[in-house]
Amino acid sequence: MLPYILEQKKNGKKIGFVPTMGALHKGHLSLIEASQKENDLTVCSIFVNPTQFNNPEDLEKYPRNDKEDIEKLEAIGCDILYLPTAEDVYPGGMHSSEFDFGGIENQMEGECRPGHFNGVATVVNRLFRVTSPDAAYFGEKDYQQLAIVRKLMEIENFGFKLVGIPTFREKDGLAMSSRNVRLSPEFRAEAPKIYQFLLKAKDLCQNQDFKTVQKTIQEDFSKTELQLEYFKICDQNTLVEATSREEGKNYRAFVAVFAGKIRLIDNLQIC
Ligand code: PAJ
Repeated sequence: MLPYILEQKKNGKKIGFVPTMGALHKGHLSLIEASQKENDLTVCSIFVNPTQFNNPEDLEKYPRNDKEDIEKLEAIGCDILYLPTAEDVYPGGMHSSEFDFGGIENQMEGECRPGHFNGVATVVNRLFRVTSPDAAYFGEKDYQQLAIVRKLMEIENFGFKLVGIPTFREKDGLAMSSRNVRLSPEFRAEAPKIYQFLLKAKDLCQNQDFKTVQKTIQEDFSKTELQLEYFKICDQNTLVEATSREEGKNYRAFVAVFAGKIRLIDNLQIC
């Protein structure tokens, strides 16, 4: 555990933790604000984690601007920034541990980005041990990641609270993401269709079956400049793709697209 945090915990302070990869935007800041409301001290970490990138160009071009990030953290009064080096996080060498998450790691983001969730879980596990929080805050924007972290906490017996925070969006509906700054003006103009189609899917699900809705949305995407990687409707708890609706269950639609070279994801509870 970081010595400063240990000292604060000994003084009875409650610690909230928000892990990030920096290039902070209002989505990240909404997590920090949620933590500030519920804890005495909030720790934000910034570390662009190489082991969770399956695409070397994505890692290389991932936006990095520590100076601006520090200003934003100071402006909202975040108490502690943990800005580790790669050696701090991976003292034994840069590799992921292998986890068995019971299957949720093999679909959607796991299927399209092999090794991604082992990389995420490895770094989150490490960061949780170093910060030893009373609560950790993650965005629903990365809904499958949130489910993976929940499983990780079971596997590693972390006893603290995990809080999911709703997706923060631009005025036109585009989910905020550090990668949005890399969109060309053309693709930036096209990208709000992701959320529009998620809303349409939600509407269609009132009176159509999931397969029909999926087909309609896939067709809608094919008429845009966005290249659809997947559009799936899944059980919100198990994240297993759903073919039909069962009473008492909730469902969520998940999207991944390429806007040119930039990969964007989003999701929405639809029923
Ligand atoms: P990063 O993409 O920087 O996101 C950090 C946290 O902010 C995640 O929990 C993510 O879900 C949340 N977030 C991102 N965009 C959001 C939005 N528009 N609204 C609300 N929350 C949003 O996710 C990661 O980093 C990494 O995988 C990490 C967990 C730090 C491990 O390396």
